[in-house]
Amino acid sequence: MTTVDLPLLPLGRGTDALSERGVDCPGDLPAPSDPDLVARARAAKEKLGDRLFVLGHHYQRDEVIQFADVTGDSFKLARDAAARPDAEYIVFCGVHFMAESADILTGPDQKVILPDLAAGCSMADMARIAQVERAWEALAAAGVQDVVVPVTYMNSSADIKAFCGRNGGVVCTSSNAEVALDWAFQQRGEDTKVLFLPDQHLGRNTAVLQLGYSLDECVVWNPLLPNGGLSAEELAGARMILWKGHCSVHGRFSADVIDELRAKVEDLNVLVHPECQHEVVLKADLVGSTEFIIKTIEAAPAGSSWAIGTELNLVQRLANAHPDKNIMFLDRNVCYCSTMNRIDLPHFVWALENLVEGVVVNQIEVDPQTEADALTALQRMLDLPGKSHRD
Ligand code: 13P
Ligand code: SF4
Repeated sequence: MTTVDLPLLPLGRGTDALSERGVDCPGDLPAPSDPDLVARARAAKEKLGDRLFVLGHHYQRDEVIQFADVTGDSFKLARDAAARPDAEYIVFCGVHFMAESADILTGPDQKVILPDLAAGCSMADMARIAQVERAWEALAAAGVQDVVVPVTYMNSSADIKAFCGRNGGVVCTSSNAEVALDWAFQQRGEDTKVLFLPDQHLGRNTAVLQLGYSLDECVVWNPLLPNGGLSAEELAGARMILWKGHCSVHGRFSADVIDELRAKVEDLNVLVHPECQHEVVLKADLVGSTEFIIKTIEAAPAGSSWAIGTELNLVQRLANAHPDKNIMFLDRNVCYCSTMNRIDLPHFVWALENLVEGVVVNQIEVDPQTEADALTALQRMLDLPGKSHRD
């Protein structure tokens, strides 16, 4: 087995520029107990006016989301960022890979700010560019690279998106994975294979449940093993080569909790995010991105019952917004995304008040070559035909 080259860094301490993992968050943050934080955020936002555009991912805390000019899933936010070329500052309340994508999709004079640099994504960390380059070489040595199209989930570093751009691939999100995979499978003739990064579950769920591939046609590439741990026959027979990555939040939902809840709650609807494990998705009634989950609950009749398998901030917000519906969380325990939760009111106020003073803190800047290559893959995604039925 190859050695693991990932130094473990406690969140918020230490620096690893090549990963999404925790980095220092400098600065003199206001105390979380400061009773004026909301008023301070409001005042700073007002002073910045149209120069500022605040994006908020659906997993953000209520205390932060109240200040977002737009909210959305990662696909919608990428498009929203690109649609505001006049805003000088884009404050991204989300995680690092989303802010990187916003930087890539916005103009050179626009500055993208992530209020806490320790807001990374553990899934994005599971595919590092050196590992992916090694896998690509191994696929060449196995004689299959010519028919492989790399597709990366938005939840990946800019380096990985750039890799896809350079190698004829595309980015996808949970809103458009079906359309993106459909496109990818048409790129190298009937023998096309897809290398799907970094979330094995989104890749498997989309390929099997939406595109009709069999589980036998999906193999898992383990970057810690020589040749991904796959034999030449396994690679030759595969259509989907799934990177061994997953979301630690969505990975918690289990099929037995679905059974338990269905036994207790009459006419229960189970609604989950496609980052959940395959057996969970198989037992669910509906599967889709955060934006899809919100629209489904909005359209649901009063009195209906829903168990939702996604991040808890969003589920709680939906339960509060729809008291006429019976909304429950699909896990026995609390299940926040700890890195999404890094963005709190003290960091938000600190970032905005610095901007008012003309000081740009925590700017996310992707280097020009990476940006150009990643833009190729992101633009292919934005140009995909039609809209996903889950959009
Ligand atoms: P969405 O693409 O649905 O916004 O999901 C992003 C994410 O990080 C889910 O864990
Ligand atoms: Fe990453 Fe999972 Fe958090 Fe989404 S919920 S940002 S995939 S760790």
